[in-house]
Amino acid sequence: MHGGRDVANDASTVFDVVILGGGSGGYAAALRAAQLGLQVALIEKNKLGGTCLHQGCIPTKALLHAGEVADQTREAAGFGVKAVFEGIDINAVHAYKDGVVSGLYKGLQGLVASRKITYIEGEGRLSSPTSVDVNGQRITGRHVVLATGSVPKSLPGLAIDGNRVISSDHALTLDRVPKSAIVLGGGVIGVEFASVWKSFGAEVTIIEALPHLAPLEDENSSKLLERAFRKRGIKFELGARFAGVEYTETGVRASLENGKQVEAELMLVAVGRGPVSSGLGYEEAGVAMDRGYVLVDEYCQTNVPTISAVGDLIPTLQLAHVGFAEGILVAERIAGLKVVPIDYDGVPRVTYCNPEVASVGITEAKAKELYGDDKVVTAKFNLAGNGKSKILKTAGEIKLVQVKDGAVVGVHMVGERMGEQVGEAQLIYNWEALPAEVAQLIHAHPTQNEALGEAHLALAGKPLHNHD
Ligand code: NAI
Repeated sequence: MHGGRDVANDASTVFDVVILGGGSGGYAAALRAAQLGLQVALIEKNKLGGTCLHQGCIPTKALLHAGEVADQTREAAGFGVKAVFEGIDINAVHAYKDGVVSGLYKGLQGLVASRKITYIEGEGRLSSPTSVDVNGQRITGRHVVLATGSVPKSLPGLAIDGNRVISSDHALTLDRVPKSAIVLGGGVIGVEFASVWKSFGAEVTIIEALPHLAPLEDENSSKLLERAFRKRGIKFELGARFAGVEYTETGVRASLENGKQVEAELMLVAVGRGPVSSGLGYEEAGVAMDRGYVLVDEYCQTNVPTISAVGDLIPTLQLAHVGFAEGILVAERIAGLKVVPIDYDGVPRVTYCNPEVASVGITEAKAKELYGDDKVVTAKFNLAGNGKSKILKTAGEIKLVQVKDGAVVGVHMVGERMGEQVGEAQLIYNWEALPAEVAQLIHAHPTQNEALGEAHLALAGKPLHNHD
């Protein structure tokens, strides 16, 4: 145990909040609750920071950045720079990635300690609506926040052996660059690892059951990503249902229901992440659940009034920043502040493959479903007309979805570094901006950000550099 008082010698302590799980959702709740003067116990069985810091966002983005450096080295001559790409030193890549993670980990530990949070290392179990048992001790609170997160899922009958059939956890620490890889699932994790491995020199084939890669995105973004991946030599089978995998002498052979087979050194299973909730006492405490997810209302409160739940454990978007927002919301509600429910459509989403896919708001298809076909207007701006993108040699597009004569309800972007543009895009969506209002704002030249301004100029009926 670090920080706070020694609860082991103080069984009578009743905390304001006991938080089970120290990932993005749990630690955000802890930090905000402590900031609001509440007494907080934070229980974590593994490492403070959870999936995002240790197995997710941070390490994968470090790998993707190493991939970007590799690609830039290969393409250096195109910029007039003499450089020779000799290959990937995977141990050095891991050292770089681990250095990033450990620096942030230390910072986070310091932050939690400085807020006087009682941090308890151990595997906790909900023992009543107001308590968690950990290390043989009962920790009691007026409120309990469940934040036990998620783990990679597999398919029925598909065994992950950690060697030839692996999950994203294994992929992060793989001691080599595979010569070839099958990526099962063309969602966020699938396209990010496909991108990294291709940059590192592997032959990659993605198998996706739905008709498109990144199938939750606007179809235009998916198609642009597919075009870019095709150009990069990343192969994919779409609308392809996985039938099974067998070991070969040197690797694996995946079979599809359409009869096709794909061989590679290994297969990454990236078919989603499922909640960590079984055997933790949730059902026994009367918490309503659905397929392992803890059900909550729009204030992240479960059917048991003293129990809240946040992060990947609840059926909302499995994103670290959603976990942060839910954690803060719960802390503020418990402290008696007025809170407003999260608009999940307004959460920015970034997939960090090369090229990046970024979006906020709803897709054109969803807008048509909600408002009617004739009430939806779209505009596009091709990055070919954007100076900075030309300098970077990146292709892509920004697409806007607007309710006719109304606000912009969707921003969908594909291109290198487009993730960085989602900040302005989310202000546009969440402040319900009209195209003419955004068109009025001046965007710096030459930036990629300017492309977002240009798309709004087009939507406002006064395109500047648009060839369409
Ligand atoms: P996902 O739900 O995004 O994608 C899984 C994909 O697998 C889907 O497209 C699905 O159609 C496909 N699939 C499922 N069964 C299949 C089958 N039998 N055959 C072929 N394809 C099949 O889940 P993913 O990529 O594993 O990511 C898990 C979570 O982690 C996501 O919710 C994601 O938002 C989050 N995440 C977010 C990141 C980011 O924000 N940059 C990065 C990585 C993960």
